[in-house]
Amino acid sequence: MLTIAIAKGRMQDEALALLTGAGLRISDEALASRRLAIEDDSGAYRFLFVKPADVPVYVEHGAADCGIVGRDVVIESEADLLLPLDLGISRCKIVVAAPAPKLPANGFGMVRVATKYPRIARSHFGARGIPVEIIGLTGSVELAPALGLADCVVDLVETGRTLKENGLSIVEVIAESTGWLVVNRASYQLKAQAVAAVIAALSEVVA
Ligand code: PRP
Repeated sequence: MLTIAIAKGRMQDEALALLTGAGLRISDEALASRRLAIEDDSGAYRFLFVKPADVPVYVEHGAADCGIVGRDVVIESEADLLLPLDLGISRCKIVVAAPAPKLPANGFGMVRVATKYPRIARSHFGARGIPVEIIGLTGSVELAPALGLADCVVDLVETGRTLKENGLSIVEVIAESTGWLVVNRASYQLKAQAVAAVIAALSEVVA
């Protein structure tokens, strides 16, 4: 059996649509249930529904053989994973955004950055030699500048609506992100045939 961890939330429906397109059948009853691990009709696949940030953890440790998760989350996790296939779903960008489309200078030269992506933010500003104080939040980070908690944010933008409606503009795009198929290194060798079959089936749907 091959275990595939799927990021819950914005990517979940598109991921399931791809898997269905690739010929995997999951019953409506299983999908409608609150079970966090379900099997496909053939019993050859098990799907885990976990928070996006936990997908790299499950896959790196081998609790799942494969995962479907955003590249943004994989980069932030620094997990040692194989990324054999860009699925092209949930296309978005990780950006620096602020109340004006330029980086606000604050009196002490230290820029306060609110983000769910502390590693990406630190490395982005570090590479530019800009000293930052990272304010780690787990969601709704666009609130932080208006409340004086941060000078800018590093966050994900999909439609741009959240930034706009919270009075923020893009200062800089750090990276583009889409959903990827990620694979555990050992599974790639030990379950080579099954993993290759999933990669091939999904590649066809994506193409
Ligand atoms: C993400 C992201 C932005 C928003 C961007 O948040 O962090 O807040 O979506 O989407 P948009 O450009 O289409 O408006 P998410 O919905 O994951 O919720 P969160 O802020 O609670 O993490």
